[in-house]
Amino acid sequence: MKGLVLSGGKGTRLRPITHTINKHLIPLANKPMIHYPIETLRNAGITDIGIIVGHTEEKIKEIKNAIGDGSQFGVKVTYIEQDVPGGLAHAVKVAKEFLMTDNPDKKFILHLGDNIVKGGIKKYVESFENGDMDSIILLKDVPNPSRFGVAEIKDGKIVRLVEKPTVAPNNFALVGIYMFNDSIFDPIENLKPSWRNELEITDAIQGLIDSGKKVVHHIIDVEWWKDPGDTEGILEANSLLLDDIIPFNKGTVEEGAVIIGKVGIDEGTIIKSGSSVKGPALIGKNCVIGKNAYIGPHTSIGNNTVIENAEIESSVIIGDSKISCKQRIIDSLIGRNVTISEASENLPRGASQLVVGEHSVVKI
Ligand code: TTP
Repeated sequence: MKGLVLSGGKGTRLRPITHTINKHLIPLANKPMIHYPIETLRNAGITDIGIIVGHTEEKIKEIKNAIGDGSQFGVKVTYIEQDVPGGLAHAVKVAKEFLMTDNPDKKFILHLGDNIVKGGIKKYVESFENGDMDSIILLKDVPNPSRFGVAEIKDGKIVRLVEKPTVAPNNFALVGIYMFNDSIFDPIENLKPSWRNELEITDAIQGLIDSGKKVVHHIIDVEWWKDPGDTEGILEANSLLLDDIIPFNKGTVEEGAVIIGKVGIDEGTIIKSGSSVKGPALIGKNCVIGKNAYIGPHTSIGNNTVIENAEIESSVIIGDSKISCKQRIIDSLIGRNVTISEASENLPRGASQLVVGEHSVVKI
């Protein structure tokens, strides 16, 4: 059985960050988001994995740099270019040759690159490998089903899939992990683009159901599932992942610095006297946490970042940035090469001076 992980798409909900970084490379607990689905597949025994990449040279290069040939995960990776972000079913169509070659049972698992489950999916993968189903759809009981695709179930069977329903038939959201055999390519061939001009995987699955194929669902009992496709999702997933860190210190903690709870401090980083870090928190390589800085719980700070005189909590700082302002920053996602500093003395009292790019969000 092969795996397919998607890292194409547009990432519009995460602009402006995604103007310069592929969504799937945004770090969660200081690790690129896409590493988690690859590890989930590897842990379920899937080691032959295709990665769908967007079409621009730059996007392909940055994903390849982060994943390489897969050996760091113990898997073999094949990159498959998707020339346009034409939807999830389009991505599967583009990967057909990879998925159906050297794959005797013609079965595969599709894992969205921006979905993370904690707890593993091995038992569901094994049941698909050993069973005679044409597809397994994973569902999760959620409190807010209208944000997701929802499966309508009658007499124990999925009868209909509805994208982001205003009134959901139940609370069972479609998790971004799907198992198929080669029968999925029939409905995909006949798909028409949806209102958002994409070939929808939900329409393809509906095609399987309508033609009487054996589509089975499982309501998964994983510890948690997140789709970090927007800022809220990024912060939630980061926070949950940080809850599980094992504290470490490869840097320097000066006397007079306060470290409380589970904190990971990477190589070359200095936590200066007069600062405090309250975990769970991760601080990457070559950072300086200066005097009077406070790093609060559920914060991860990427490499080469300087924080001075500022308080940061429940946030993701991607890296290469300098934050030195007498402010508390919370629930924030801060991209690369960002400077947040005190306003100069020439400005009127209480005034802020901003250089903010397209699609930025600033709340002051
Ligand atoms: P989405 O989150 O539905 O789309 P997106 O990533 O373009 O983001 P946004 O809605 O903010 O514009 O995509 C789900 C996953 O599928 C994600 O991992 C990206 C991937 N994907 C592709 O690989 N190819 C595609 O054509 C599309 C639409 C998504």
